[in-house]
Amino acid sequence: MARSKVTIVGAGNVGATCAHWIASRELADVVLVDIVEGMPQGKALDLQEATPVMKLDVNIVGSNNYESTADSDVVVITAGVPRKKDPVTGQFPSRDELVKTNQRIVGEVTRQVAKFSPNAILIVVSNPLDAMCHVVLNESGFPAERVIGQAGALDTARYKAFIAQELGVSVRDIHGIVLGGHGDTMVPLPRHTSVAGIPVRELMAEDKLQAIIQRTRNGGGEIVKLIGVSAWYAPAAGTVEMVEAILRDQKRVIPSAVLLKGQYGYNDLYIGVPTILGSKGVERVIEMQLNDEEKAMMEVSAKAVQDVVSILGY
Ligand code: NAI
Ligand code: 2OP
Repeated sequence: MARSKVTIVGAGNVGATCAHWIASRELADVVLVDIVEGMPQGKALDLQEATPVMKLDVNIVGSNNYESTADSDVVVITAGVPRKKDPVTGQFPSRDELVKTNQRIVGEVTRQVAKFSPNAILIVVSNPLDAMCHVVLNESGFPAERVIGQAGALDTARYKAFIAQELGVSVRDIHGIVLGGHGDTMVPLPRHTSVAGIPVRELMAEDKLQAIIQRTRNGGGEIVKLIGVSAWYAPAAGTVEMVEAILRDQKRVIPSAVLLKGQYGYNDLYIGVPTILGSKGVERVIEMQLNDEEKAMMEVSAKAVQDVVSILGY
């Protein structure tokens, strides 16, 4: 059986780490693409040189163009610019300017990717995540089940890591889910969180649980404060969890940003919901029974996503 092929656009922190996790699990051959000359080639070569030691049968190549990405099974899009000071004016770009800049970058990348891999499943990572999913959907012309955003996998991983740490139990035994947009309005669901099936509220005081929920919402900011740039290990791990579910047709239930068509009361909006991921991409959205408080939190999150989406001008 031929090996699967994954292209990763943007060979920066998240993109290169995705390549690392994919290689380390022998999920697929990898093509790393970036606009910076030499950099994707150098990172790919370095990773390839590690394969004999790690005993990994995968090929990793780097490129500044898209010919070598042809017929990829999955394409991960991490290209974009972070929010940083203009070295000339010393000013930060406004949120709208940043959205427009990343819309242009992600739009260009998507057109290339779609041209060379018309049957691929696209996983969007670039921020602002939910809005960039709309860009990729529009520019690729792909059906929505093949354009999926990564955010819930990361947000849920952070939530589970904090609970496991607090309780001193294995991360493997934490079950939970975080819905909504990727930002501080995300919706962790303590009512649906358990430790090996035991409701988390039987094991943890409410103030501790609420502190963990708040820490999860600020998870991205906590890392930026420590390092000065945004996270990459956990974001890449969440992304590769989705890649694996698709390539191995695992039917995993992973919270993912998908285009809702009436589910949860939303239409034509990308937002994080429990999704069955398999070889066709989004195979089904699971509609959970949310209570009034959870619905209200989803509404706040959907409004925040819609505000950013409206900047795109589609
Ligand atoms: P980074 O700055 O390390 O890497 C971005 C890469 O994109 C750079 O190497 C840059 O040269 C490349 N790039 C820019 N324009 C390009 C183009 N037109 N074609 C190809 N490559 C291009 O940033 P990092 O940390 O890897 O983050 C990437 C994106 O992912 C950012 O938008 C970040 O906010 C987002 N992110 C999203 C997360 C999520 O959960 N959805 C989590 C972490 C990061
Ligand atoms: C994160 O949550 C910045 O979206 C990125 O770490």
